[in-house]
Amino acid sequence: NPSNIQMEGSSGLKRVNCRAKGGVPGFKVAILGAAGGIGQSLSMLMKMNPLVSVLHLYDVVNAPGVTADVSHMDTGAVVRGFLGQPQLENALTGMDLVIVPAGVPRKPGMTRDDLFNINAGIVKTLCEGIAKCCPNAIVNVISNPVNSTVPIAAEVFKKAGTFDPKRLLGVTTLDVVRANTFVARFKIIYDYQKPECLKTYVLGLSDAEVLGVDPRDVNVPVVGGHAGVTILPLLSQVNPPSSFTKEEINYLTNRIQNGGTEVVEAKAGAGSATLSMAYAAAKFADACLRGLKGDVGVVECSYITSQVTELPFFATKVRLGRTGVEEIFALGPLNEYERAGLEKAKKELADSIQKGVAFIKK
Ligand code: NAI
Repeated sequence: NPSNIQMEGSSGLKRVNCRAKGGVPGFKVAILGAAGGIGQSLSMLMKMNPLVSVLHLYDVVNAPGVTADVSHMDTGAVVRGFLGQPQLENALTGMDLVIVPAGVPRKPGMTRDDLFNINAGIVKTLCEGIAKCCPNAIVNVISNPVNSTVPIAAEVFKKAGTFDPKRLLGVTTLDVVRANTFVARFKIIYDYQKPECLKTYVLGLSDAEVLGVDPRDVNVPVVGGHAGVTILPLLSQVNPPSSFTKEEINYLTNRIQNGGTEVVEAKAGAGSATLSMAYAAAKFADACLRGLKGDVGVVECSYITSQVTELPFFATKVRLGRTGVEEIFALGPLNEYERAGLEKAKKELADSIQKGVAFIKK
C-alpha cells in the first residue's frame, strides 16, 4: 500500500521470508502507540528480538521518525511505520502479536483510573481494528487502567464475535519485575539454607548489590490486578523460599504497590514508567512468542479472563503456549496477610471491571 511508510526498500521487503535467525519461525508483531515513551523503547527492544521477522510501528504522531530510526538497527526484523487512523488496518493485517501501549500516562497526583476517560476510547478503537484485521492475534494490553482496559477489549471482541480469552492478556509484568528487584535488593538471602544467614536484612544500604542476590534469580508471584491495592505480591511464595518479618512484608508490599507512583513523582510531570515498562513489556512479549513457537514451561503473571476467583478477570501465573494462555495456575496457599489483601484487591477490581464493561455496553 503506497500510503504506508515502509522504511525498508521494496526489494528489502521481498527478501523477508518470515523465518527468524536459526530457522525458527519469525513472528509478525505490531506496536500500537509506538512513538510514545514506552512505545519507542519497546520498538527498539522488539527489533532486537530474534523471534520477530516483521515489526509494524503504529501511532497517531511521529511514527515515520521512530520507524526510520529503529529500521537502521542491523537485526533481522523488517520495520514498517503506519501513521494515523487511516493506516491502522494496514498496520494490523496479518499480525501474530499486537502490543498496545497507546494512551495518556499519569501525572503526579493522578490514579490510573483518572486515565479512564481518555484511554478507554483509544483502546476501544484499536481493539475494533484488531477484531477486523487480525482476529487471531495475541493481544498484550499495556494502556492503563489495565484493570478496566482488558475488560473493554474483551467486550469489543465479544461484540465482534472474535473473543478468545486465551489470546487477551493484560500486561502486569512490571509489577513482577519491581517485586523481584525490591526483594532481591532489600532482602538479601545469600544462603537461605543456613539459618544464621537467612536474614541479612539490608534495607536501604548501598552495599546491597555487592552482597549478592541477582534479581533475575528471584521470582515473586504478583496476582490480582495492576493498580494500588489490587497489586498483590505473594511474598509467602517467593522463590528462593524466604521468610519475612511483618515490617518487611509491609515495607515490600507498599513499595511494590506504589512503584509506579514512585516513578511518576520522580519524573515530576514528565510521565510515568517508560524504560522499566518497555523492558517488562518486551520480556512479556518474548514469553508470548516463545509460547507461540512451542517452547515448553513458559510461565508469566498476567491479567486475564479467569475463574481463579469469582471475578471475571484476575492476574495469576499462566502458562503460555501455541494458542496463548494454555493453563491458569491457582493462587496456592495464602497467609493471613495475603488473604486480607486479596479481599481488598477483589473489591476494587470488581468496580474497575464493571466500569470497563459498562463503557462498551452503554
Ligand atoms: P506516552 O504519552 O509517552 O505515549 C503514548 C503514545 O500513545 C503517544 O505516542 C500517543 O501519540 C499514542 N496514542 C495516543 N492515542 C493513540 C491512538 N488512538 N492510537 C495509537 N496511538 C495513540 O505514554 P507512555 O508513558 O508511553 O504510556 C502509555 C500507556 O501505558 C499509558 O496509559 C500508561 O498509563 C500505561 N502504562 C502501563 C503500565 C503497565 O504496567 N501496564 C506501566 C506504565 C505505563
